[in-house]
Amino acid sequence: MINAAQAIAILAAGAGTASAFSLSMSSALIVQNKGGGHGELGFQLAKNLSSNPKITSITILQDSACNDSKEPFKSYSTDIPNVKIVKADLADESMTAATVQDLLGDSYDYIWDNASKGASGCGKAVLDCAKSWNSKLLTYVSSAGIYKPDGVFPMPETTPIKDTAGQAQYEKYAVDNGLPFVSFRPQYIYGEKSNKWDYIDYFFDRLVRNEPVPIPGDGSQKVSLTNSADVASLLASVLNDESAAVQQTFFNCGTDQLVTYDEVASMCAEVAGVDANIQHYDASLGKAVFPFRLTDFYVSPDMAKSKLGWDGPKHNLREDLSWYFESYKARGGMTKELDLTKDKEVLSPASV
Ligand SMILES: *[C@@H]1O[C@H](CO)[C@@H](O)[C@H](O)[C@H]1NC(C)=O
Ligand SMILES: *[C@@H]1O[C@H](CO)[C@@H](O)[C@H](O)[C@H]1NC(C)=O
Ligand SMILES: *[C@@H]1O[C@H](CO)[C@@H](O)[C@H](O)[C@H]1NC(C)=O
Repeated sequence: MINAAQAIAILAAGAGTASAFSLSMSSALIVQNKGGGHGELGFQLAKNLSSNPKITSITILQDSACNDSKEPFKSYSTDIPNVKIVKADLADESMTAATVQDLLGDSYDYIWDNASKGASGCGKAVLDCAKSWNSKLLTYVSSAGIYKPDGVFPMPETTPIKDTAGQAQYEKYAVDNGLPFVSFRPQYIYGEKSNKWDYIDYFFDRLVRNEPVPIPGDGSQKVSLTNSADVASLLASVLNDESAAVQQTFFNCGTDQLVTYDEVASMCAEVAGVDANIQHYDASLGKAVFPFRLTDFYVSPDMAKSKLGWDGPKHNLREDLSWYFESYKARGGMTKELDLTKDKEVLSPASV
C-alpha cells in the first residue's frame, strides 16, 4: 500500500495533467507521422486527452521529419504545453522495440499510432512495445482507403479490404499477436491547424475566380468530411469502454453529417458570397483534379456510437466553412496562380 503523501508525490512526478486525485496513473503515447496526420490528429488527440481524467501523462513520439515552423507542430509548445515531445526518424526501417524503449525510457498504458504504415520498422517496434509494456490498449489510425467497396453505403466495418495494404498488415500482426487492439478508419479530414487543405480549397479556388466547378457524375455522391477535433474525439472514445473497443476492433471514423459534392460546392459559394457555377461532367473522363472519389465512398460512425458511446461530432462543415474561408484568404488562396488545364479537359473534352 502507498499512502496519500506518496501518491501525491507520484502524481506530481508525472508530467501529467491529473485533475482528480487518483492512485492510478495512466500514461498515453501518441506516435505521430511527419505530416501530423493530414488533419493534425495527434495534436488534436493530445488536446482531447489533456482533459480526460483517466489520462495522467501524454507523450508524443513525433517523426523528426516534421517541419516545426508549420502547423500543427509550431503550436505544440503553446497549445499542448504539458505534453512531452520526443522526436525520432520514424521512417528508419531498422527501428526496433528496443530503439523505441531507449528513446522513451518509460512504458505506456495507452498507445495511439498514427505513423506506422505497416508491420515492419516503426510499426513492428510499436506493436512489440505494446506487448512488452502490457499496454491496456493500442489504437491504430488506419484509413477507410483500405476498403474495397462492394456497393453498400454507408460502408460497414465488414466491407472487404485490400489485404496487401500496409495498414492491413499492421492490423493483422496486432490481431495475430493477441494485442488489446482497436483500429479506426477515418475518411476525409480538415482542421484549423491542418497542413493539408486541398479537399476544400478545390471549391474555393474556382468559386472566388468565377470559374466553373467541375464535379464528376450528378453531384449527389456523398462525402464524409470531418473536423479533426471530432476525429480525435472518436479516437479518444475507446477510453469510454475499453473492452467493447477491443471486442469490436474495427471502427469507421467520421462525422454522421454527410454532404453531397454539390452541397459542398454550394456551401462554399455561400460563404464566399458568389454563385456556384457547378458543372457536372461524365465521370468516365476521370477525376482530373477533383479531390474526392468519382463514386460514393462514405461510412457512418454508428458502430462507434453504439459500442463506445461516442457522443457525436461537435463541429459541422457549414459553420466551419467561415473560419476555413478566412484561412483560405490568409494562405493567399485568392491570389495564387491556378492551373485549370485539367478542368478544361473534362469540361470540354471535344476541344482539347
Ligand atoms: C518549413 O516551413 C517553412 C514555412 O512554411 C518554410 O519556409 C521552410 O522552407 C520549410 N522547411 C523545410 C525544410 O521544408
Ligand atoms: C494517420 O491519419 C491520417 C488521417 O486519416 C491518415 O491519412 C494516415 O494514413 C494515418 N495513419 C498512419 C498510420 O499514418
Ligand atoms: C474528447 O473525446 C471524448 C470521447 O469521445 C468526447 O466525449 C469529448 O467531448 C471530446 N472532447 C472534445 C473537447 O471534443
